[in-house]
Amino acid sequence: MTVLHLSGGAVSIVLDARPGTMPTVLHWGAHLGPVGQEQLDALAAAAVPASPPSSLDAPQRLGIIPLASDGWTGRPGLVLHRDGDAAAARAAAWPSVRVTDVAEHAEPGRGSGVRLTLADPAAGVRLLSDWLLDEHGVLSVRHELHNTGAGPCTVLGLAVTLPIDAAASELLDFAGRWAKERQPQRQQLREGVWSRENRSGRTGHDSPLVSVVGSAGFSFRAGSVWGTHLEWSGNQVQWAEVRSTGHRQVGAGELLASGEVVLAPGESFATPWVSAVHSDEGLDGLSRAFHGAVRSRRRVAGRALGPRPVVLNTWEAVYFDHDLAALRALAAAAHEVGVERFVLDDGWFLGRRDDTAGLGDWVVDPAVWPAGLHELVRSVQDFGMEFGLWVEPEMVNLDSDLVRAHPEWVLGGQGVPLPWRGQHVLNLAIPEAYAAIRDALVALLEEYPIRYIKWDHNRDLIEGGVHAQTLAVYRLLDELRARFPEVEFESCASGGARIDFGILARTDRVWASDTNDALERQAIQRFTGVLLPPELIGSHLGGPTAHTTGRTHRLSFRMTTALFAHAGIEWNIAAASPAERAQIAEWVATYKRFRGLLHGGVTVRADTAPAGDVWVHGVVAPDGDEALFAVVTLATAAAALREPVRFPGLHDASLYRVTRVPLGGEPLWIGDAAPQWWMPGTVTLPGSVLSRVGLPLPPLASEEGCVFHVERVRAAGE
Ligand code: GLA
Repeated sequence: MTVLHLSGGAVSIVLDARPGTMPTVLHWGAHLGPVGQEQLDALAAAAVPASPPSSLDAPQRLGIIPLASDGWTGRPGLVLHRDGDAAAARAAAWPSVRVTDVAEHAEPGRGSGVRLTLADPAAGVRLLSDWLLDEHGVLSVRHELHNTGAGPCTVLGLAVTLPIDAAASELLDFAGRWAKERQPQRQQLREGVWSRENRSGRTGHDSPLVSVVGSAGFSFRAGSVWGTHLEWSGNQVQWAEVRSTGHRQVGAGELLASGEVVLAPGESFATPWVSAVHSDEGLDGLSRAFHGAVRSRRRVAGRALGPRPVVLNTWEAVYFDHDLAALRALAAAAHEVGVERFVLDDGWFLGRRDDTAGLGDWVVDPAVWPAGLHELVRSVQDFGMEFGLWVEPEMVNLDSDLVRAHPEWVLGGQGVPLPWRGQHVLNLAIPEAYAAIRDALVALLEEYPIRYIKWDHNRDLIEGGVHAQTLAVYRLLDELRARFPEVEFESCASGGARIDFGILARTDRVWASDTNDALERQAIQRFTGVLLPPELIGSHLGGPTAHTTGRTHRLSFRMTTALFAHAGIEWNIAAASPAERAQIAEWVATYKRFRGLLHGGVTVRADTAPAGDVWVHGVVAPDGDEALFAVVTLATAAAALREPVRFPGLHDASLYRVTRVPLGGEPLWIGDAAPQWWMPGTVTLPGSVLSRVGLPLPPLASEEGCVFHVERVRAAGE
């Protein structure tokens, strides 16, 4: 059985893994239905490309590790090097790995599949390659390279590659910067290499997130797509390559610095996992699979997320101005509106009066907190809220007791590396530095009933050592989580600069961006949601004027935006008016009413007109019984009347009642908007009509939003 057919969800993958060959993916795409072994063998025998004129005599197939030894002259899947004389080095640099074994394999949360063993004894390499498919159709692939040679070998690159389907002609990925993460960019696939290379030492504000290739014009609701995500928080490369030979591949792997990974005889190097999804139902189909996989993996790991508590984060409320009385007043206001988790942000530890000092000294500053944090924590608990705390354990300020005692722990050497927000990186690959930070965090977690850690990372890591540092921070989080299983962790990195499945295997939420501007957040959350389900995406209700952009938005738009996520508040609501606080309390109650649906449903996004002035997105219950939708206006309408609102993802033949959910008062209507079906009445129509015909949108001003609850009143056939 060496031509293998794996299937899961709506996906099939066929791997030709006959002994003595470099394995090839014969199909990664739509489910093929039952295919017998005889037919699989026939497919492998038939799927031999022609040898065109002026090419190698033997047909050239694209192997899972594309290598020069197989005639591949494109971007290689494995680059390694051994010291020695030039001839030996050259031979060893061209391994010729061949399948030696195929075994069934399973990995908790990733489904099942095969482990292929490939070896090239002459080159001194053995490679284990895992191919697993889960019930959502998410393919997990990873390679592990073993040095079986006599001397050391330097790994310069090892990536997971997959063929690009013939139907795909466009490429979508994401880019961005601080406070504007995950902006989509789209282009035609053309001959050459398109490559995103990240040497910033963290996943990055500009991370590609998911590289998607797809059929012409693919959209949220339609088209065939193939998406790949690299589960790694350090340097990385993701590429697509189209060659004149007709071969086309996508690849993803860690971007290794020269000499960063040197394997002694017997040692090994594993690539991060790549999670890959195919869907014939557009980006919504792709997201459904990724979200399903995230939820299943968390369940299997014993970290399924319960209802996401309403958070209040102190950062934009008080910044570094820590004062017990003021924070108690904030906690009281938080309690009054229904907050469940109170998070004390930056500014509580030794010498941390601003962002120039203190990082590394993770003890409570007695100058500001003479009795420690106990009084505040007690107040928070008396209000029935959980207490959370901000830390940034991978960083130091030179102005800290830690660096004064151990200047040699600064990555790159004290004073040499470039400061960034006045800070440097602590070299966690030094065992003593690692132990010091771990022990300081353990002491905090033992002294205080902390239930939540906001784990920040506010600087690129440009001094090298990224591979070891990334593994060290993973290990640190793993250790802390094993010891304090009741504590949740958030991955923050100047907002959303560390969002990937690698960090999310050990954290429970991401801070999607430092911007609380509802307009910016619409895009950031929409596209972060291509990979992550809403319950993992932190979103906070900010004050009327966004601190990052200076834009002012109405409460209703801000509330509509923060609702479709793991919601919280980041605003000094102790200073808000009683009327505002009453509206916030109503919003919190609405969030609590709907969070089961929001955090367990299927994310959908309507394909709205290309003008892009209206977006419709929502979450539909898995059984189709109800849904919650947001209609948001991002710009002044191009035409006086906007297009009808269509609600995707409902069951065609069921009858649904649509009701507007008031949030934070009325949005701004332009002119005399006649009270139509949605102000404040309801309308009842079949799912097919709601998703295909839609309902007219009254003239809604720009940068406004409305929320609709859609309930099934009669199922199909009743
Ligand atoms: C980063 C985070 C913010 C806040 C500050 C504190 O910028 O993204 O949310 O925690 O650090 O310094």
